[in-house]
Amino acid sequence: MEKIILLGYMGCGKSTIAHKLSKIIRIPYLDLDKCIEERMNLSVNEIFDQKGEIYFRKIEHEIFKELINSPESLIIGLGGGTPCYANNHDLLNGQNILSIYLKASIQTLFNRLIVNKSNRPIIASLNEFELKEFIAKHLFDRSYYYNQATKKIVVDNKSVDETILDILQILT
Ligand code: S3P
Repeated sequence: MEKIILLGYMGCGKSTIAHKLSKIIRIPYLDLDKCIEERMNLSVNEIFDQKGEIYFRKIEHEIFKELINSPESLIIGLGGGTPCYANNHDLLNGQNILSIYLKASIQTLFNRLIVNKSNRPIIASLNEFELKEFIAKHLFDRSYYYNQATKKIVVDNKSVDETILDILQILT
C-alpha cells in the first residue's frame, strides 16, 4: 500500500500540510512524534528529559519502520531529525513510497521557530542569536539526509494551499 512521507526541518510545516492533504486525498495521516508520545505515554520533551535523545531515536526508528510496513495507505509526517538517524533515510525510497522534502530557508525556519520553540527540546533553550546560528549549521548537516527524499518542494513564501497544490501535482 502507498505511503506518502513528509519530511523537513522543524517548522517547515509538515503537520499543517499533512493534515490538510489528508482531508483532500482521503488518506489517513499519522504524525510520527504523536505516535511515539502515545506509545510512551510521555511527551517528546519528557522523553528527551527522562530518557535522553538516544533512546528517543531508537523508539523513533522502531515506530517509523512499523508505520512504513503497515498494510494501509498512509501519510506519515516525520520529526525533523528522523531521516538523519538510524539509517532512516534508507527507508525513504522503497516500493510504493513517495517521500517529499518540504524545503524552507534558514530565514523562514527562524521566523517560525522563534515563536514556537518551547515544545522542541533541541532548540528550546536557545536565544534569538543562537537559534539563527543553530538552524544554519544544523540544516547544513541535515540537508544530505533530507535530499534523499524522492521529491523536493520549496515552501518559502507559499501558503499551505499553494504547497498542497505542488504536492497534488506530484501525485497526479
Ligand atoms: C526533532 C524534531 C521534532 C521532534 C523532536 C526532535 C529534530 O519534530 O521529533 O523534538 O531533531 O529536529 P518536529 O520537526 O515535528 O518539530
